[in-house]
Amino acid sequence: MIDVSALGGVRLVPRDAAEALRKMRWWDDFYSSWHPQQNLPISDWELQQFQRHIAPFARTAVDVGCGWGLMAQEMASEGLWTTGYDWSHAAVEGARSLTAGIDRVRFRWHDFLAPQGPPDIEPESVDVLSCRLVLPYLPLNRFLSQACSWLKPDTGVMYVVVQVWENQDPGMRRGYPDSIVEDIRVGWRTSSRWDLDPAGEVTALALTGPPRRLASPAGLPHTGESGAQAPTPH
Ligand SMILES: C[S@@+](CC[C@H](N)C(=O)[O-])C[C@H]1O[C@@H](n2cnc3c(N)ncnc32)[C@H](O)[C@@H]1O
Repeated sequence: MIDVSALGGVRLVPRDAAEALRKMRWWDDFYSSWHPQQNLPISDWELQQFQRHIAPFARTAVDVGCGWGLMAQEMASEGLWTTGYDWSHAAVEGARSLTAGIDRVRFRWHDFLAPQGPPDIEPESVDVLSCRLVLPYLPLNRFLSQACSWLKPDTGVMYVVVQVWENQDPGMRRGYPDSIVEDIRVGWRTSSRWDLDPAGEVTALALTGPPRRLASPAGLPHTGESGAQAPTPH
């Protein structure tokens, strides 16, 4: 269990259902009009590093908080049968239209603040789970527990991209403090970390072989973290 007290008063996980709905609507607005702004463009360097951690026998991938679905699209082009999930309907629709005609990729609506994961993810079925710029918005311990239960034991890979507090402009607190990034690496069979920019503001993890202590069903307590599910809009 990761001690999230290092976050101090900084809280990106919605405190209650009303805040969750506000944030979901914010993302809906963000994705409602096509604009060139991406959250963080996927560079060739990032892709090359990511690919190094994907086993040739990998077949299935999940993209959590997929947004426009660009990472999901990359994983599908690697030959992985990929499902991207997002709680923004606009993101899901945008991702579907951007990938129209592309094989092996599909998109579904899901709110990962919910106590249960997406119904179509079978336990121990996922080869690669991408979590790009989304983990700090989710209750960390509960989500890690769920993610580990979805990954294939021993070989499943969790790919995380997250901002690091210490390497940001003064006063900025996006992502996690370095101590939490390091705590996330503990217990996996192998763990790699590399930075995506020279300042180390954004860092990436490839974690292989989920820790058994985390591989329990959803619903672990998550001290100091909230995780209120938004009421489903529409
Ligand atoms: C910073 S964006 C990253 C998008 C994409 N992964 C990328 O790398 O460009 C965060 C994404 O997480 C999604 N998100 C945030 N909270 C979520 C939740 N509770 N369930 C599902 N998606 C969520 C947002 O809608 C948004 O698309």
